Amino acid sequence: MDKLVIRGGNPLLGTVRISGAKNAALPCMAAALLTEEEVILENIPQVRDIETTRRLLSAMGAEVELGYGRAHHRTTIQARTLNAPQASYELVKTMRASTLVLGPLVARCGRAHVSLPGGCAIGARPIDLHIKGLERLGAKIATEHGYVEATATRLKGAEIVFDKITVTGTEDLVMAATLADGETVMQNCACEPEVADLADLLNKMGAKIEGAGTSIIRVKGVARLHGAKHRIIPDRIEAATFIIAGALTGGDINVTGCEPAHLTSLLQKLQEVGVKTTHASESIRVMGDTPHKAADVNTEEYPGFPTDMQAQYMALATQADGTSIVTENIFENRFMHALELVRMGANIKIEGRRAIVRGKTPLSAAAVLASDLRASASLVLAALVADGETIIDRVYHIDRGYEHIEEKLKGVGAEIRRIGEIFPKRRGANG
Ligand code: EPZ
Repeated sequence: MDKLVIRGGNPLLGTVRISGAKNAALPCMAAALLTEEEVILENIPQVRDIETTRRLLSAMGAEVELGYGRAHHRTTIQARTLNAPQASYELVKTMRASTLVLGPLVARCGRAHVSLPGGCAIGARPIDLHIKGLERLGAKIATEHGYVEATATRLKGAEIVFDKITVTGTEDLVMAATLADGETVMQNCACEPEVADLADLLNKMGAKIEGAGTSIIRVKGVARLHGAKHRIIPDRIEAATFIIAGALTGGDINVTGCEPAHLTSLLQKLQEVGVKTTHASESIRVMGDTPHKAADVNTEEYPGFPTDMQAQYMALATQADGTSIVTENIFENRFMHALELVRMGANIKIEGRRAIVRGKTPLSAAAVLASDLRASASLVLAALVADGETIIDRVYHIDRGYEHIEEKLKGVGAEIRRIGEIFPKRRGANG
């Protein structure tokens, strides 16, 4: 298994370019199932979850072309016929976002056989709200042998009020409602930019969606959707990770190809901590050479402080003067990285959903274990300021959501290398 080896101490200097958003690309790829015509997606990040989604859609009968060479951030999907509208446990267990095919398959094929995702390192993460919403749209649902079997002659528009804000739940049901008979009004929806990006693509495919990006979304169902071309938004979580890297290492980096408007809560928090940032239309400059002071953070749904930035922020808090209380309100078990940071010398105490981080404590290099995608990013950040060479194991987690992270970090002066099997070679289209 791959490991990353990082020698800490270098301030990061220079420019790093942000890739497309994994959490927008995944639902947009699933949306291609809603039409038999070609959907072209650009700015697709080269991360493992995209490869998993390619395999998922191909297994159903869709033609999926992941671009090569100069076109390597472009994907072409054509779901002419879907002879196997199902998502196997083998694939769903490696990427729970596979459940995003549930709504599109019922809407397009009248049937979906999708594995239940099972537990996850960061929390229970059930999909009951996806299922409840599909039932409101008239689908018949049976769950047996670990699979959801959903059927419907044609879905019917309905009123849906989410008991809880769910990002992929909102996306799944917006996709299902596009081909329903009549209008669907959804309330208490997720407002994440990735939801709005999906709706943008669907409207280009001929859907009638209003209000995406707000808590109330209206979808007027249509008989069919057509092909379209769409550029995926930048990855705000990847951008946040590099911004914090610049702040933490006392460096001066320019993070380009990002959307500053999607990072307001982070930039405000960094101001509180004392980190200097400036931004232009598609870039953010971080000058980390100022003392950092402690600041509490509460994770919330967008536009609040994202849970996907919590682990990275915790790494920064270990190097801030004073006590920061980090409260995780979205997932019940998202502090696995804290214990690894403690192994590196951080002073962190966990009390239920609160982590009490006392800084500033010098970090020393150690062998640490990544438990999930954002936890591994937090360990990489800590290693950049630790004394000595840190070895991070199980970095396959980081490959799921960060494109070539070691090359990007090397590009701004980090001492980082990967040991073990390199990222698996790309296979031919539909191979
Ligand atoms: C999305 O996951 C993201 N994944 C996650 O990013 C992100 O952490 C999360 O939203 C929150 O922002 C993708 O977009 C692919 P939720 P999702 O449904 O949609 C509960 C990363 O690091 N819930 O908004 O699965 C759930 O347990 C990943 O890139 C139900 O109870 O998250 C959680 O407590 C990790 N029933 C809360 O709602 C449901 O049916 C929010 O989860 C659905 C969710």
